[in-house]
Amino acid sequence: MAPKSLLKSWFPTTASPLICNAPMFGTATSDMATAVTKAGGLGIIGGGFDLAPNSAQLTALDADLAKAASALSIEPGRTLPVVVGFITFHSSFEHVLETVPPLLEKYRVAGVWLAFPQPGAHADVIKELKRKGEAWGLKVFVQVGTVEAAEEAATHGVDVIVVQGIDAGGHQWAQGASIVSLVPEVRDMLEQNFNGHNIALIAAGGIMDGRGLAAATALGAEGIVMGTKFISTTESPSPDVIKDRLISTSDGGVATIKSTIHDDLQGTGFWPPLYDGRAIIGEPYNEFKAGSSMDSLVERHKTAHASGNHSRRIIWCGTGVGLIKDVPSCQEVVRTTLRQYSEVIERVSNVQ
Ligand SMILES: Cc1cc2nc3c(=O)[nH]c(=O)nc-3n(C[C@H](O)[C@H](O)[C@H](O)COP(=O)(O)O)c2cc1C
Repeated sequence: MAPKSLLKSWFPTTASPLICNAPMFGTATSDMATAVTKAGGLGIIGGGFDLAPNSAQLTALDADLAKAASALSIEPGRTLPVVVGFITFHSSFEHVLETVPPLLEKYRVAGVWLAFPQPGAHADVIKELKRKGEAWGLKVFVQVGTVEAAEEAATHGVDVIVVQGIDAGGHQWAQGASIVSLVPEVRDMLEQNFNGHNIALIAAGGIMDGRGLAAATALGAEGIVMGTKFISTTESPSPDVIKDRLISTSDGGVATIKSTIHDDLQGTGFWPPLYDGRAIIGEPYNEFKAGSSMDSLVERHKTAHASGNHSRRIIWCGTGVGLIKDVPSCQEVVRTTLRQYSEVIERVSNVQ
């Protein structure tokens, strides 16, 4: 097992166990990431997928990193205690080593998160990113949904494996397991095959509070990532109607579904077949199942979107949605989760 202090030694401003917000592209901006970091977690900014030179996404990320450095009062030359996440299946990933390192270096970003590659595409990239970021101790995170993918990332020299189970909100492996079995199996694999390597393991998928954090650590994780929980925070740019919908939705196992249909409905059906996404079963999904044509539904989606009407929006979220009851600040989420975690550990230690 990785030494307990590994994450703490890499990210000295963080509390243990580590709490991260997910790099939700469009939702996890510098406002969210810096609030999480200030509260003792590790904030992550969703950087998107378009890594082509001068892409609009990279230009926006540059501006957001400048905002983060200012919000955290980071002097030039000091490490920015946030991570930047990228979705990596897109054809522009071929530019990753050209476009991403200059941005990481400019702000001395603490870590870079890679997720959803075309099979094998991360191979040389992980080592090369680490080499380029060695001067300031850049750490590479890779999110995986299978033991095989975790082993591959470990072979490629990853620092932090994010084990994502199928309760997760948003995109994920189309076929997989929940963290209850996936985390211990990945932990065992790391102990057997990568003993002595400095690889940390954090869990994602369905974790909503300190009980989930305690469970994840019991399973072998040293920290967690929460996505769904952080959508309903004051720093999240999601419109109130979305936050209200999360609050009013319960029984997430039946209120949400893993499918490729949501992407088709919102016109983002270009994901590789290896992945699908979990979202609330909404009207568009039900209309498709009832026989409406995909073309007509995509049109309606576009029209609603163009007029600022969120009623037909795809709401990506995990099975934990039923545990969302309010809209706290990110600081409250991190602090309450850590406090609950200590209470749970205390309670279960005292069970006779
Ligand atoms: C709205 C939303 C957007 C997401 N966007 C991304 C993304 O851009 N990149 C990524 O690696 N993961 C993304 N994810 C998945 C998260 O990294 C994480 O695995 C997931 O949120 C964990 O499950 P939870 O939502 O139950 O906490 C997203 C998840 C959600 C809910």
